[in-house]
Amino acid sequence: MISKETIAKINDEADIIDVLGDFISMKKAGSNYKANCPFHNEKTPSFVISPAKQIYKCFGCGKAGDSVKFVMEHEHFNYVEALKYLAKKYNIVIEDIQQSPEMIEQQSKREGLYVVNEFAKDFFMQNMFEHEDGKAIGLSYFQERGFSESIIKKFQLGFALASYTALTDAALEKGYQLEMLQKAGLSSKKENTKLDFFRERVMFPIHGVSGKVLGFGGRILKNNAKAPKYINTPDTDIYDKSKVLYGIFYAKNAIRKEDECFLVEGYTDVISLHQAGIENVVSSSGTSLTKDQVRLIKRYTENITVLYDGDAAGIKAALRGIDIILENGLNVKVVLLPENQDPDSFVREKGLAGFQDYIQANRKDFILFKLELLLEDAKNDPVKKAALVGDILDSISKIPDAIKRSIYIKESANLLGVNEQILLNEANKKRKEILSKQRKDDQRSEEQLIDNQALVEDLIQSDKDYIEAGISIEKFERDVIRTLLEYGGKPYIEDQLTADYILSKLDGIPFDNELHLKIIEIAKSLETQEQKVAISDFFVNHIDEEISNLAITLILGNYNRYDTVLSDGWAKKKVYTLTKEDIYKEDIATEFYYLKYWRIKLLEIEVLKRLKSADPSEDFTKLLLMKKKVDDEKTKLAKEKNTVMTPK
Ligand code: CTP
Ligand code: MN
Repeated sequence: MISKETIAKINDEADIIDVLGDFISMKKAGSNYKANCPFHNEKTPSFVISPAKQIYKCFGCGKAGDSVKFVMEHEHFNYVEALKYLAKKYNIVIEDIQQSPEMIEQQSKREGLYVVNEFAKDFFMQNMFEHEDGKAIGLSYFQERGFSESIIKKFQLGFALASYTALTDAALEKGYQLEMLQKAGLSSKKENTKLDFFRERVMFPIHGVSGKVLGFGGRILKNNAKAPKYINTPDTDIYDKSKVLYGIFYAKNAIRKEDECFLVEGYTDVISLHQAGIENVVSSSGTSLTKDQVRLIKRYTENITVLYDGDAAGIKAALRGIDIILENGLNVKVVLLPENQDPDSFVREKGLAGFQDYIQANRKDFILFKLELLLEDAKNDPVKKAALVGDILDSISKIPDAIKRSIYIKESANLLGVNEQILLNEANKKRKEILSKQRKDDQRSEEQLIDNQALVEDLIQSDKDYIEAGISIEKFERDVIRTLLEYGGKPYIEDQLTADYILSKLDGIPFDNELHLKIIEIAKSLETQEQKVAISDFFVNHIDEEISNLAITLILGNYNRYDTVLSDGWAKKKVYTLTKEDIYKEDIATEFYYLKYWRIKLLEIEVLKRLKSADPSEDFTKLLLMKKKVDDEKTKLAKEKNTVMTPK
């Protein structure tokens, strides 16, 4: 267990802007910050972070909390994992936690993999700095490449010895299980054999966004035509090469600051640029970029600059890979390095200033770059030129923003000497195809709904994003329960406690989640005034661990919530507006509103779907009655929302 003092210390030290800043990109808005909500899809930011109150709230999906809660939700950590993460970030010592083999075994699968990866990383580093072979082979290799000791240590580079079992033996001796080493991709999976996966290679740990080691890349040192230059951790429960970006942990702050991300091909490019002072750089590690990787970058910036090796023979093949960036709405520029140079060699040769000058002078918009490249190739060959028009339109039509598309069409028409209107028509056709394909791919049978224009237009308009994010009513139930625990002990009006007020309001609202129901039942059974006043302590200390855990999460998640007066910017977004002393009443009203709203909304979606399905076994009269009921409820709720609630 983590002591109360440690928890308090973590809460004191963790700064919400700093903590969330590791995961999302935010902009200042008055005394608050705003961001696109990381928990649901949205285009306009409704995620507000208050540094004064050290809390965040999304006015779209309703998620709210403090640093601990954010880390839990975002990284899918449990409470203890979140605290450990923050303790590590702020160098707070958690004394009680020690890694015995038994504990390691008990820990969840993922946690176990992080632990052995951490061990392996340390082992590889130790080899390189302390083992004779490591120093003579690994370290001197990196030094010859011009890597400074501090950059080697920063990126936690290491060395895997030539031995077949050095790592596996050392890990087993420490009490780690062979099975765990195999699951982490560190030991071969062959039965009854002990065999290190990485041997006689310099090692590059691959870190996740929060700095945990997810896997490794290992580079061979000898010129050996038989073995591959790099081998990488095979996919494991924590490492999926299509989802990671090498260097993201070290780059994210700089990416946000510069509002630009450089994309390079290799591990060594990332490290060399860092050493030179360019930190906003990541690598897709030799493979073409995936949607997940683009979205990862999009958390920090919308601007990607791709640095192409000057000797990349396959540069034209690589062009296609860029479309994935366009599709996700980001802006792409490219820089083609001089022949036979990669970013690593080029920055070493030119130094920081020379490198930056070159980028400045040679940075080109991707579409224009592609157009020029293809044009040069096609010259006056009409067949090639026709193919090129199709190719460039393919890229342009993937851009979601219509204005950007039309600008590119105009420029392309000029450069190609083709009629703009013809290009535009062609691009629109392609755009339609893309949209219809996207729709077909959509699992949620949204098409069904779209056909029924009149009924569903507004539904799709306003709530598409949330529905896509997979709204769960339980989340809204939880928010209401939170208000019960957080404010239950306060007086609501003169002779009524907030707990009683909330419990009475809960009558007639169905709850899905068993645990939530249980809490409500228990709360109703509280008899004395004293018990009710101390309702949060009562649940926090409840003997049923499930209940107490939820209570702790809910209450801690809003720790320190209303110590200071909410700013106007914050309060305006609330569904209800009350005076400042009654801010908790506003919070209660808002959470109730969201719960009711989504109950109705989800019912509405269900009814509409069934109406639309034309399934002969459906009772349509009944469905229409349900639809009417939904509409009535909507009207009722809208009225409730518009009633100005006067404070007591
Ligand atoms: N790569 C890989 N497997 C290979 C070759 C390459 O995974 N067999 C990945 C690595 O992430 C590598 C990147 O592709 O960093 C780029 O490859 P390359 O340009 O060949 O390597 P560099 O990073 O430039 O390495 P070095 O400078 O040491 O040659
Ligand atoms: Mn290289």
